[in-house]
Amino acid sequence: MSTFLDISGVDMVFPTPKGTFTALKDVNLKINQGEFISLIGHSGCGKSTVLNIVAGLYQASSGGVILKNTEVNEPGPERAVVFQNHSLLPWLSAYQNVELAVKQVFAGKMNKTEMKQWIEHNLQLVHMDHAMHKRPGEISGGMKQRVGIARALAMQPEVLLMDEPFGALDALTRAHMQDSLMEIQSQLNNTVIMITHDVDEAVLLSDKIVMMTNGPEATVGEILSVGLERPRNRLALAQDAEYNRLRSEVLKFLYEKQRKVEPLIQSKQASKMQDISQQESHKDVKVSSS
Ligand SMILES: Nc1ncnc2c1ncn2[C@@H]1O[C@H](COP(=O)(O)OP(=O)(O)O)[C@@H](O)[C@H]1O
Ligand SMILES: [Mg+2]
Repeated sequence: MSTFLDISGVDMVFPTPKGTFTALKDVNLKINQGEFISLIGHSGCGKSTVLNIVAGLYQASSGGVILKNTEVNEPGPERAVVFQNHSLLPWLSAYQNVELAVKQVFAGKMNKTEMKQWIEHNLQLVHMDHAMHKRPGEISGGMKQRVGIARALAMQPEVLLMDEPFGALDALTRAHMQDSLMEIQSQLNNTVIMITHDVDEAVLLSDKIVMMTNGPEATVGEILSVGLERPRNRLALAQDAEYNRLRSEVLKFLYEKQRKVEPLIQSKQASKMQDISQQESHKDVKVSSS
């Protein structure tokens, strides 16, 4: 049987004013249908670039993506994207934003009443039914993000691509959204690729955690299989030895193997000060946290 989603030999080279920049080098990843994959790695390593290539928004410089034996060359409704910065149309209400996507996928397959019920159902899933007729300018960032998630889910995509979808949400809403996502995914069995910088979120949700090396020329460093039984319960897992082992594997990768060291003081003026103080000490470094 061929792989459901096959990312193979992907390089991504960006032109920049200072010459070319190789963001990704030989990224390979095989994903089965219904798998939940998390992409984790330090900020700027190339996670969003990988997601954008799978979404068909970027074209890889070499290599490519094959979904169900067909090469991905452009965006398509079977691959819905939840962007990091909620991307709603500002002149449409939450309801209308979801409606636009639903019409794109289900026009001719649902009647008006069914469509209305479906849109409302998806907004209820993300607890946005009370504000569904508000426009993006009238709701908070977290609420906009939830509408973006409802819009993606309402398309019933075979592949759901999410770029740090819960990063802007408060802890309680985030936990609720993670639980809903697990439930929805177990019902629909869609394939999910989610970028996160939250180690607990990655372990809780994923079948596999794909850990990326630092760029430039970033690639897949290690893949960690998460065999924890489903449905998963965050409270029970907090005490679970295997959960904690997986968690520390990811932390080890990020903070030992791919440790990212940056000077604490980065501005030009500050670097002058640093030059002076470096004569006395070389110790002021921090590990980048996202
Ligand atoms: N359009 C672009 N042009 C030039 N460089 C880019 C472009 N998009 C991303 N990059 C660079 O590629 C690297 C990876 O970016 P990105 O995929 O956004 O990282 P991440 O999502 O892991 O934070 C970064 O160094 C970024 O500056
Ligand atoms: Mg990113």
